[in-house]
Amino acid sequence: MSQQLQSTDHIWHPFTQMKTADAPIQIVRAKDCALHALDGKIYIDAISSWWVNIHGHANEYIASAIAQQAQTLEQVIFAGFTHQPAIDLSKTLIRLLPSGFSKVFFSDDGSTSVEVAIKMAFQYWHNQGSTHKTKLIAFENAYHGDTFGAMSAGGRSTFNAAFQQQLFEVFHIPLPTKDNIEAVSAQFKKIAEQDTVAAFIFEPLVQGAAGMQMYEAAHLDKLIGLAKEHNILCIADEVMTGFGRTGTVFAIEQLEQSPDIICLSKGITGGFLPLGVTVSTQKIYDAFYADDVTKTFFHGHSYTANPLACAAANASMHLLQQESCKDQIRFIGLQHQSFAKNIALHPMVKSTRQTGTILAIELQTGEAGSYFNSIRQHAYRFYIDQGVLLRPLGNVVYIMPPYCITAAELQRVYDVIALSLDFLQQSGTTTA
Ligand SMILES: Cc1ncc(COP(=O)(O)O)c(C=O)c1O
Repeated sequence: MSQQLQSTDHIWHPFTQMKTADAPIQIVRAKDCALHALDGKIYIDAISSWWVNIHGHANEYIASAIAQQAQTLEQVIFAGFTHQPAIDLSKTLIRLLPSGFSKVFFSDDGSTSVEVAIKMAFQYWHNQGSTHKTKLIAFENAYHGDTFGAMSAGGRSTFNAAFQQQLFEVFHIPLPTKDNIEAVSAQFKKIAEQDTVAAFIFEPLVQGAAGMQMYEAAHLDKLIGLAKEHNILCIADEVMTGFGRTGTVFAIEQLEQSPDIICLSKGITGGFLPLGVTVSTQKIYDAFYADDVTKTFFHGHSYTANPLACAAANASMHLLQQESCKDQIRFIGLQHQSFAKNIALHPMVKSTRQTGTILAIELQTGEAGSYFNSIRQHAYRFYIDQGVLLRPLGNVVYIMPPYCITAAELQRVYDVIALSLDFLQQSGTTTA
């Protein structure tokens, strides 16, 4: 009899303390919002599997686009060569994005799309002789990914404490609120006047990993305006917010100002294959366009613009533009609103916030609201027991469902969250 290997025999899982973590749940197949486990249990994926599966799992349209592409052209070097799926995707993205964007640079995932954006911004100034512009402005608690540039831009925390010495200097400013916007603007201006800043990078409207922290478009507009006045490039990291999440295709559509560079990934392929893109304006591109070879953007990955990933993205973009998908995005937003109202007065609920299809519920807790809050583990296990995949960020429970979620499934997610509030209250997880 062959011995059954456990997942953890040879696999080191991400963001997981392998010594204390529960055994990972083995999923054998999935369809739409349902994850089917090896033991027969079914889970509703209420967070789109780390925010990527915008059209649900095993979508047939995307699957057949990939299958067709796999039999035609699976991969080709993207320096000196090109292919139709990449050409089609670049055209669609430029059409979908607000006006002003012009060139699409391909990479592998969210972190690399940010890495590319930061390098583009630094080299933009370098190519023009402004070698003193080497710093970034970013928000406190920002999350832009796990590679070194992306970590540097991110807020300093336990997650990157081991790498403090290796991270480059970034000016971190508080997320603007109506109470601090004047102070934050003054701080921004003071930093900007030093003339050392290459770019301001931000997650527009919602800081995802920070606990779905939401802030006003008008406040971001004000800071972008200041950046522009001081010759600072603006990078919108829409890796999480892109492709319908905030109610519009891109969160930046809700701004008056327009950034110079945008980073996209996650939902771009509907969760089928990894792909990142960094889209720039013509102004950025022109700073690299020269007879002088040293002005080249020397960056690329082996799988840059992989045709299978591009085919998946083309199919995902097609689905996103269907009226039925837009209706679903509106439906989820409305359902979230009424659920938030229903639970607002529960003693376990500190506050709720919502942007488009994202609903965040901040739980009352005696402990500081951080990722390591013990309430998180209690809540996570409760949801898993109930057959719902929700992965609280500290004391913030959030829902970010695939757009194809049915009314019944969404109701089940709400019911389980409502149950969890009573459970957490009764089990006394509020006390520190
Ligand atoms: C805003 C933002 N940027 C970048 C990333 C990194 O993306 P990836 O995990 O694909 O590298 C994430 C991931 O959650 C994110 O939320």
